[in-house]
Amino acid sequence: AGGDVGTGRMAEPEEIADEAASMLDRPLEGLSVLVTAGGTREALDPVRYIGNRSSGKMGHAIAREAARRGAEVHLVTTAPPPVGPGLEVHQVESAQEMLEAVEKVTPQVAVFAAAVADFRPAGPSPEKLARADGPPPITLEPTPDILGSVVARGDGTFTVGFAAETGGPQRAVDKAARKGVDLLVYNDVTAPDSGFGSDTNRVVIVHRDLTTEEWPVLPKQEVAARLWDLIAERLPHAGDG
Ligand code: CTP
Repeated sequence: AGGDVGTGRMAEPEEIADEAASMLDRPLEGLSVLVTAGGTREALDPVRYIGNRSSGKMGHAIAREAARRGAEVHLVTTAPPPVGPGLEVHQVESAQEMLEAVEKVTPQVAVFAAAVADFRPAGPSPEKLARADGPPPITLEPTPDILGSVVARGDGTFTVGFAAETGGPQRAVDKAARKGVDLLVYNDVTAPDSGFGSDTNRVVIVHRDLTTEEWPVLPKQEVAARLWDLIAERLPHAGDG
């Protein structure tokens, strides 16, 4: 109906219904969202890094779904990012760069789907390490806790953590309690239908009260959709703006 402005023609009821439907279909309009995705790369020298197997697919699906529902999304990722309306992409490599990108935004909802290295080489070599010099001693130091830095803001950001584990969900329940997140998504990365790079995922949701909810094996896109349904239920004002 917006296209009819100035033509003097009244919008047809069907057009109004269509417009209303498209507005209803954007229930996250006005919501600001941060998503971290991918695996961080921690430099050993200018050429080599310590990394992990995260593909970024789950985080990217979450970011795309939020944008599709009308949110303004900051996606901080190490993986080749999707592009699309409503997505602002910040491409990063290391945990430190991810932290710096995250510090620039103050979202209402933050989803930490990235697999962040817990440790990085202390004092990476400025020059390429040479074979002739023999195997280098590698000393590791902790990386910054990105999720922790957002929880510590204490500004009411709704936080969603991920736990890629190799055992049962009990570790994820403990982690949810320890991290102070509003939701934690647990997935067993050794399960055939939910590992790294898979297009499907089988997750267990850990709620704020530490009750758990098992979801069946689903395409990552569907996990993202259900996750936003769940987050939206918990956000009193989502959809008002
Ligand atoms: N995370 C983060 N910054 C880090 C490490 C983790 O933001 N430096 C986030 C992850 O994106 C994830 C959640 O914290 O959402 C849990 O990550 P995980 O590596 O499982 O947490 P750890 O505290 O490192 O747990 P563990 O003791 O199992 O290593």
